[in-house]
Amino acid sequence: MALNHDPGLTTRASRVMARCDRLAACTEESGGITRSYGSAALVEAMVLVEGWMREAGIETRRDAVGNLLGRLPGPDPEAAALVLGSHLDSVRDAGRYDGPLGVLVALDAVAQVALSGRRQPVALEVAAFADEEGLRFHTAYLGSSGYVGSLDRALLELVDASSVSLRDACLAIGGDPETLSAGTPPPTALEGYVEVHIEQGPALERLGAPLAVVSAIAGQSRVGGTFTGEAGHAGTVPMDERHDALLGAAELALAAEALASAVPGLIATVGELDVFPGASNVIPGAVRFSLDVRAPDDRTRQTAVKTLHRRARAIAAQRGLDLSWQVVQGNPAVPMDATLSSRLEAAVDAVGFAVHHLPSGAGHDAVVLAQVCPVAMLFVRCTGGISHNPAEAVLAEDVAAALAVLDRFLAAPAEEGSRRERTTAT
Ligand code: GLV
Ligand code: MN
Ligand code: MN
Repeated sequence: MALNHDPGLTTRASRVMARCDRLAACTEESGGITRSYGSAALVEAMVLVEGWMREAGIETRRDAVGNLLGRLPGPDPEAAALVLGSHLDSVRDAGRYDGPLGVLVALDAVAQVALSGRRQPVALEVAAFADEEGLRFHTAYLGSSGYVGSLDRALLELVDASSVSLRDACLAIGGDPETLSAGTPPPTALEGYVEVHIEQGPALERLGAPLAVVSAIAGQSRVGGTFTGEAGHAGTVPMDERHDALLGAAELALAAEALASAVPGLIATVGELDVFPGASNVIPGAVRFSLDVRAPDDRTRQTAVKTLHRRARAIAAQRGLDLSWQVVQGNPAVPMDATLSSRLEAAVDAVGFAVHHLPSGAGHDAVVLAQVCPVAMLFVRCTGGISHNPAEAVLAEDVAAALAVLDRFLAAPAEEGSRRERTTAT
């Protein structure tokens, strides 16, 4: 079904798309989009978004981990906040919509509320999280964990590939590592968190639908490890006398593929290999690898991680390699909140679209926000289901649909609030 033509929505969707394009120019690697936590590119993106927030009459602040937060106050300073947002960091050579679309759609919808002068029963907070992808320090959700007060201070000692610490990256992004501590609650009570995000998969295109309400987010484990063998001359060491670390990692990647192909719902990926010393005429002496394992069912995921660890040990023993293996992150599967999701469903329906539900295989900041408040998510169709890829694309009309739904979602409690006020007055 097509959205009733509203020129205002078309203009706003074009503005969101243009802003996504503008943020795409904030990158630490030319020729693509890469914005890791603490990078100058992320600082630049945050300054731009902060300017757009202020233009819209939204008060801004930064928190201890460096998230950018914009607030439209509620009826009193103690009012609980409804948070809407996503992240501004990216993977390496990313697309332009994973994260920024959710931030900018939220900003535009909250700006409309500011413009209307409509009184909200709650404060509205637009969150632009500083790290969701975990590109630089290999652990996801630093931004939202800092926001909800669940970030483990020990993580401040993590170092990136150039030995820069997370503590220093936090300072570089305008955060304050000294006040960043687990257990510090967000500044006000949170009524809920709503995130708009591209689907990052092909289901909506197959359904021929622009939007879906998310049912649950799959659990995720991240493993970091190293196979260590023996570097040697590529021209002289006989094949049966080698301890090639890269072949160990390659075998593990194939084992992960085989296991995930055999177990329903399981997904496993070796996405990073750093080969040392890394020369065409040297047998790889060591390989650092990442392993990402996901499933909607937590036991399936945990069993798979154990199975692959056993397999990696067997590969190392057979090839005469040493293995180090650290599970660096584990997040359980997170169902969306039924009440908040039903408000989102009502908004999708009221705007005139069929209500579809989809699970998310990708991780989102909602995983962490669910520790402290109800969460709900709205997926937007993306072209070819392509994401984590420069070819990521969305249709402006689908962005307009998401804006219409968010407008409706934000108007609903206000209408209820004013109905309640009228009832009390009579
Ligand atoms: C985030 O995009 C993730 O799912 O890894
Ligand atoms: Mn992503
Ligand atoms: Mn994302």
